[in-house]
Amino acid sequence: MSLNIKKIPYSKPSLGRKEISAVKRVLKSGWITSGKENLLFEDEFADFTHSPYALSVNSATAGLHLLLEALGIKAGDRVATPAYSFTASAEIISYLGAVPVFIDCEDDYNISASALEKVCENYGDQLKAVIVVHIAGKACDMKKLLELKKKFGFSLIEDCAHAFPVVTNMGHVGTLSDGGVFSFYANKTITTGEGGMVICRDKSLYQRMSLMRLHGIDRTIWDRYTGTAKWDSWKYDVVAPGYKYNLTNFQAAIGRVQLKKSVKLKNKRRDIAHKYLKNLSPCKNIQMPYSTDNHCWHLFMIKVKTTQLRDSLMKFLFEHSIGTSLHFIPLPCLSFYRKTFDLDIHDFPISLDLYQRSISLPIFPDMTNSMIQRVIKSIIHWDRNHE
Ligand SMILES: Cc1ncc(COP(=O)(O)O)c(C=O)c1O
Repeated sequence: MSLNIKKIPYSKPSLGRKEISAVKRVLKSGWITSGKENLLFEDEFADFTHSPYALSVNSATAGLHLLLEALGIKAGDRVATPAYSFTASAEIISYLGAVPVFIDCEDDYNISASALEKVCENYGDQLKAVIVVHIAGKACDMKKLLELKKKFGFSLIEDCAHAFPVVTNMGHVGTLSDGGVFSFYANKTITTGEGGMVICRDKSLYQRMSLMRLHGIDRTIWDRYTGTAKWDSWKYDVVAPGYKYNLTNFQAAIGRVQLKKSVKLKNKRRDIAHKYLKNLSPCKNIQMPYSTDNHCWHLFMIKVKTTQLRDSLMKFLFEHSIGTSLHFIPLPCLSFYRKTFDLDIHDFPISLDLYQRSISLPIFPDMTNSMIQRVIKSIIHWDRNHE
């Protein structure tokens, strides 16, 4: 059955006149690769998060790779990462020839500190780094994770791809560890189409990431062509086999506009989340996500009683032109990880259970009240028919 009504997407970027004029301005300037806008975006992002250093990159995946490399992760090292995440949180470990160790989650989808502690005890010194992900935009319990870092001495990375802006009582996420990485992919809370930002406190980490972001060239490319350049600015050396991970000038210009709007955008998401929480909590077949201030509601993930009911609800919403998604297929279920690291998803029982029962509902800042009400009414209608 397909009703003749307009589809509600599960996600949609919020872009307006200011983003369009920022792009026009940069295109007209003739400087479209990384340039002045990147420097300004980095300064403004660092100010916003109260972080000493910020480095713009062309994706969060690139940023995670740079950070792990700069932390000195090498072939054979063990790096812990959540079983319940997107592949980007683990593939970067394999890029460096290191070995991922997957950790189960808690029922809020975030990494389980107690499961991590067991892994730390097993691997001891071999465990060089731990990646944690603030899933859906809900901050992990960093206090517990920092205690483990202190006890076992690993480097700690926050994958903040979902979590901007999220200020905890310890500071903005990403500033609570050795480094944090944000994503500006199209469905994220602020977007540049594709893009990301790495923040860190340590100058030598920042310098290594700056170098590796652009081919391992010992100076930034835009220095060579700007007004400040000298006659011999074309000279450069390559001191390491770096990557090509820089963000363009026009994407950085979009990012600057989005950054200024970020709190407003987050508040709109929060208001939608609160409407869902208030109206859907009485439904018998679904469980609401935890509501906390340390959340930017990138995703609104509900848990359905059983897999069968989850599939029934997803199908029902699809047939009523309401987009949904599923975050995530746990990494041990995916063939590369399963076969390469000989994993069995049953060793990650909470991830498996959440995967089998979760749905992400539509949530985006420009969602109208009538769209929100349509989602709520449809779910309530479905729930009543499944007593
Ligand atoms: C948890 C997580 N980490 C990292 C990424 C990678 O982000 P990007 O697409 O900017 O590389 C994603 C992408 O959605 C993600 O969900």
